[in-house]
Amino acid sequence: MAHVEEESGTRRDFLYVATAAAGVVAAGAVVWPLVNQMNPSADVQALAQIQVDVSGLGIGSQMTVLFLGKPVFIRRRTEEDIAAARADDGAALPDGDARNANLGLGADATDANRTIDEAGEWLVMIGVCTHFGCVPLAEAGDFGGWFCPCHGSHYDRAGRIRRGPAPENMHIPVAEFVSDTVIQLG
Ligand code: FES
Repeated sequence: MAHVEEESGTRRDFLYVATAAAGVVAAGAVVWPLVNQMNPSADVQALAQIQVDVSGLGIGSQMTVLFLGKPVFIRRRTEEDIAAARADDGAALPDGDARNANLGLGADATDANRTIDEAGEWLVMIGVCTHFGCVPLAEAGDFGGWFCPCHGSHYDRAGRIRRGPAPENMHIPVAEFVSDTVIQLG
């Protein structure tokens, strides 16, 4: 009996936390931590790979796919996006690390270190704010990239945090082109 009561108390606590977490999110935002709890275990994650056909993605557009339980933004940037992001390489960047799983920790947060092609057209990022895990909105914020409305984090066109409470640039997952039109994640 004691065991049953303990379980039921845990469930109530969980529901309370979930409700409280949703309560601080502004309208239109999606909070991620709740879903994140359902991620597969590390050994399952290590095996996971998906391939994404990006042939239909026009310049200046973004698609979002679900990978390992998280949204991944795939953005095909315009010439203007690339130029603006590269011009900001010398700006004061709150997070100086590229946060690119393809490069490992320690790579500078230059625009070139954030994209998966040399021309800089393709930006692939885990679309989760590094503050408390909301999903940022595209083409918004003071730097023309993404804006997280939960607590006001502004990311630039390379997904680098520029202003607000988020401590890190949006993370870049293991990703590569495996053909002209297909990106493999993982
Ligand atoms: S979750 Fe707090 S600013 Fe994005």
